[in-house]
Amino acid sequence: MNQAVPFERWASEFTALASKFPPPQPRIIVVKEVDSTQDEARRRNASPGDIIIAWRQTNGRGRLGRTWADTGEDGVAMTMVLPRDRPERLAIASAVGVAAAIDAILKTHANGTHPGARVGIKWPNDVVINGRKIAGILIEQLDDRALIGIGINVNHQSWPPELSDRAISLAQLGVAIDRLAVMDMILQTMICTLRDYDDQLVRAFMERDVLVGETMQFLHNGSTIEGTVLRIDPMLGLAVRTSAGEIWLPAATTSIVPDSVKSFARSLH
Ligand code: BTN
Repeated sequence: MNQAVPFERWASEFTALASKFPPPQPRIIVVKEVDSTQDEARRRNASPGDIIIAWRQTNGRGRLGRTWADTGEDGVAMTMVLPRDRPERLAIASAVGVAAAIDAILKTHANGTHPGARVGIKWPNDVVINGRKIAGILIEQLDDRALIGIGINVNHQSWPPELSDRAISLAQLGVAIDRLAVMDMILQTMICTLRDYDDQLVRAFMERDVLVGETMQFLHNGSTIEGTVLRIDPMLGLAVRTSAGEIWLPAATTSIVPDSVKSFARSLH
């Protein structure tokens, strides 16, 4: 589907798309312009099975208090509402699902123009290609629900200077695709990974891991720790070699200091 589907047809196209899935079918809610699909899901008190999709998201939120750039009409912004679950499981299942969708799209649409493009996952759930982010995932848990916010770079031809060595789009990888087809693929892969067992998810994650062997800084219990990643168990945590020896950083209390991965910076171009 290379021809862009106009906004006026999104609601009917998504209704048709949802009807392809076995029950319980997702309820897809399309909005023309929104600050954040996460906030829209909260305002609508959306329930598990609901998916909020924005034609344009102007003020998206990222992990760790970061922002997600205005999608314009180039990016995908969607929030899937699920029942509450273990945060690590949701993080890994969504990263694996989004990475699988992007991989499938590259395989079918890139016409071999970027044969070296490997779809990787930077723990816990950034989807990257050649060290640049192609998709980000924000997971917010409410009392009984989880909001899985997915942003994907689709038709961007260029980036503002602050993002130019950190972001990449499907278009920049030779893929001409409508956003609707990207979301269709995301739904197909996510519906599978959300049902996978933990050990399947861990295996799929590790096949795409890009962090083992990299040196970076972590935030843990208020301290910044620098070290080289030795092993990852994405559901549990990371073994890291520091100047003081090997330590274990639990997933639940650890985050990567943004932009601190050293060798990514060297391999961007
Ligand atoms: C990150 O990489 O830090 C996560 C970015 C998540 C962005 C998506 S876009 C759809 C959803 N709505 C938001 O406000 N954020 C997420």
